[in-house]
Amino acid sequence: MSETHFGYSTVDEKAKASRVRGVFDSVAPKYDLMNDLMSLGLHRAWKAYAVAVANVRPGQKVLDIAGGTGDLARAFAKPVGASGLVVHTDINEAMLRQGRDRLIDEGLLLPAALCDAEALPFAAGSFDLVSVGFGLRNMTHKDKALAEMARVLKPGGRLLVLEFSKVAAPLSRAYDFYSFKVLPRIGQWVAGDAASYRYLAESIRVHPGQAELKAMMKTAGFGHVDVHNLSAGVVALHVGIKC
Ligand SMILES: C[S@@+](CC[C@H](N)C(=O)[O-])C[C@H]1O[C@@H](n2cnc3c(N)ncnc32)[C@H](O)[C@@H]1O
Repeated sequence: MSETHFGYSTVDEKAKASRVRGVFDSVAPKYDLMNDLMSLGLHRAWKAYAVAVANVRPGQKVLDIAGGTGDLARAFAKPVGASGLVVHTDINEAMLRQGRDRLIDEGLLLPAALCDAEALPFAAGSFDLVSVGFGLRNMTHKDKALAEMARVLKPGGRLLVLEFSKVAAPLSRAYDFYSFKVLPRIGQWVAGDAASYRYLAESIRVHPGQAELKAMMKTAGFGHVDVHNLSAGVVALHVGIKC
């Protein structure tokens, strides 16, 4: 039986997905509010940066994986225009519904698919751009998910992985204090759930850092990978080109 991380716990591989589902079932109703509170609104700037780097053009086809409440899918919808396509996907029904309802309320009707990044239901070479924002960290087999992302991209297509990463050393004590002392308390007050936010902090610590993730993307089929550190490495944007 293989084991993997669930935050700092070691769990059977088969149990991880259901534990992650439990976290996102619990946080879905307050997800957007918590994102703004926890990051002091910075997640909007990190996503805006990723969208600017993506520079998608009219007519392009974009797949947003682990799309949750739809921030990235929404941002790509306008530049691809009526001739393009943005598919909004997530493995978690509560998160996907929350996103779909929110996009519809804003007048955006995007195709939404409930699917696991590790087994994408799309043909090879379908998309110009694949994005995954703050989702890779939660996946059980990250190598398998990255290989799937490479498979569904057209040759020359790009993968954008926006994810928490390894913060610059001088900030690490303050960042740890915030993550382990402050964050779970905000989670308890606002969402009545400290444990999910403790998982968030732990899952960031066990996620591969900038260089390791770059190497994983290269192994998965991205011939060229650029790394952009944001907010002193609290977050990193990895941009891989399938070649
Ligand atoms: C922190 S949320 C990010 C949502 C959104 N992308 C954003 O940036 O606000 C992480 C999302 O990853 C999804 N997720 C976790 N494991 C997944 C998997 N194997 N395949 C697809 N989505 C997954 C969760 O359901 C959750 O909605």
